[in-house]
Amino acid sequence: MSLNSKNIVLGVCGSISAYKSPMLLRELVKKGANVNVVITESAKEFVSHKVLSNLSRNSVICNMFDETNQNDGSWHISLAHKTDLMIIAPCSATSLGKLANGICDNALIALTIALPHNIPILIAPAMDTTMWESKAVQRNVETLISYGYQIIQPEVGELASGIIGKGRLPEIESLVFNIEELLKKKISSKLSGKKVLITAGPTLEKIDDVRYISNHSSGKMGYSLAIAAQEMGANVTLISGPVNIPIPDSINIININSAQEMYDEVMKVQSENDILIMCAAVSDFTLKDTFKGKIKKGNDESLILKLDRTKDILAELGEIKTSKQTLIGFALESDNEIENAKSKLINKKCDYIILNSSNKENSGFGGDKNTVTILSKTKEIKSLPTMSKSKLAFEIFNEII
Ligand code: CTP
Repeated sequence: MSLNSKNIVLGVCGSISAYKSPMLLRELVKKGANVNVVITESAKEFVSHKVLSNLSRNSVICNMFDETNQNDGSWHISLAHKTDLMIIAPCSATSLGKLANGICDNALIALTIALPHNIPILIAPAMDTTMWESKAVQRNVETLISYGYQIIQPEVGELASGIIGKGRLPEIESLVFNIEELLKKKISSKLSGKKVLITAGPTLEKIDDVRYISNHSSGKMGYSLAIAAQEMGANVTLISGPVNIPIPDSINIININSAQEMYDEVMKVQSENDILIMCAAVSDFTLKDTFKGKIKKGNDESLILKLDRTKDILAELGEIKTSKQTLIGFALESDNEIENAKSKLINKKCDYIILNSSNKENSGFGGDKNTVTILSKTKEIKSLPTMSKSKLAFEIFNEII
């Protein structure tokens, strides 16, 4: 699993196994995570501050009142609110006791206690067997489990003291596995129980049996949204124009060609869905009459095709949607982008419009990246930086949840 753009806090306490913390840190950074390291005073006896700051590319926090950390007011509150997961590895007996009793007399404990309730906290205790088995430590571990902390049990093996017993910090792969599992669980609860309908790709309007009118939509944005919604726990229906992108079996896919077919399929299932995202590049016009067979060019110097307007699926959903449904449209604009997108938001009665600019680099059709601005009925306009379409899909859901 990629940890791209995940904000992880690594807490390190005074334990001989703190020598493994830089290796864990390195692995998390390699997987794309942004890691902030917070250490206790006694951790400094076992691991180099410099190694941790160099590997994390962030300053390491130890002193609660260090002036250099006081950006955004209280550093522990601002860091707590941008953290996706915290792991304390190794966690000492002292820190277990302080956490179980809410004694915030150092930076690490203050930050842990300040984390919002939905942020997973993993604790990997490591100490000598007799300490681990002591009544005080076991009682504190039970208390922490009852608070919802996830305890990674220490492993049995040879300890620094030479004694063979329980107390070793698990191997890095095992710590990373636990982090990934917890993050997956957290992500998959965001849209659990929700039904999401997404349209994607181009439509294809037949001219004759061998020719058609279409557009350059690759379908990548819509498919990324479908995969993100599914990973976030939703039941997803994807109504897709002709594209060639593999999709997980668990996504219910309905393949269509024309704008009319897309309209028909959307209308059949729209009322069962909680979130409706019209990401497809639907043709605005279709042939008034299609030709059977292949049109011969004959001696004609020009050919006139008569086109009729297609139904605007998004606008029609705006008319019929219930107050419990969230409707999201896309807008592809080349001029007066914000104004045109605002008009679409109002005229098509959407809750959100995701604006792409057709003339900007890394925006709109094709490509793996996108740069969008999110317009909402109730919130301020939000411009997002350029990012991969798969990351953007998660950002869009985070914005609307
Ligand atoms: N849309 C739709 N049905 C159509 C045309 C567009 O559902 N027949 C949806 C698209 O899926 C998108 C939004 O409407 O979510 C805006 O599409 P866009 O092509 O940007 O705008 P149009 O409404 O077609 O207007 P114009 O082409 O004039 O900008």
